[in-house]
Amino acid sequence: TVGKSTNILWHECPVGKIERQKLLGQRGCVVWITGLSGSGKSTLACALSRELHYRGYLTYVLDGDNIRHGLNRDLSFKEQDRAENIRRIGEVAKLFSDAGVICIASLISPYRKERDACRAIMPDSTFIEVFLDIPLEICEARDPKGLYKLARAGKIKGFTGIDDPYEPPLNPEIVIQQQKGGNCPTPKAMAKEVASYLDNN
Ligand code: PPS
Repeated sequence: TVGKSTNILWHECPVGKIERQKLLGQRGCVVWITGLSGSGKSTLACALSRELHYRGYLTYVLDGDNIRHGLNRDLSFKEQDRAENIRRIGEVAKLFSDAGVICIASLISPYRKERDACRAIMPDSTFIEVFLDIPLEICEARDPKGLYKLARAGKIKGFTGIDDPYEPPLNPEIVIQQQKGGNCPTPKAMAKEVASYLDNN
């Protein structure tokens, strides 16, 4: 959408991202976790936050469910509102990253175009997209909140993966899948994989 604010200028502060990063001893970035409901996004976000925190890094988790309790409480699950949910969380994540924080965003974010738009507003290589590629059958079997059951019964309309689309990323930095034999990696293993990517990039 085109902004409606006019006659506005950008105001630069003498204390910027470089100074803040120096103070914190880390680089700000956004780890964007996308995947179906029940794929384990929030679990991974918390495990990663814990892993990094105890290694001495400042992190902050922006969880779709949680943000919908406040900032995004006005948004539904219709297409336009999901797009706005992604856009707002992208902007907030950018602010956290600019503050020098490792910001972990976990939301379904089903639309490629909006995820790519979030990537596009971030400085180069500071947007790390993590695709939690867990098949629908597994997410549905887990059904931690009983929402798939309600969706199948027609009691929730427009549920992602059932009667609403999910567009997988084409070039994510990290893909997490089931291991051979069908087991999903543990939260700790997933967190360590993402943490080691951050270490090496
Ligand atoms: S989105 O698509 O990015 O705007 O969604 P998000 O903000 O991550 O919110 C997803 C959580 O909302 C619950 N919920 C739904 N999910 C998908 N489709 C529909 N219609 C829906 N209605 C409610 C659900 O608990 C999601 O939580 P997670 O953590 O993903 O399971």
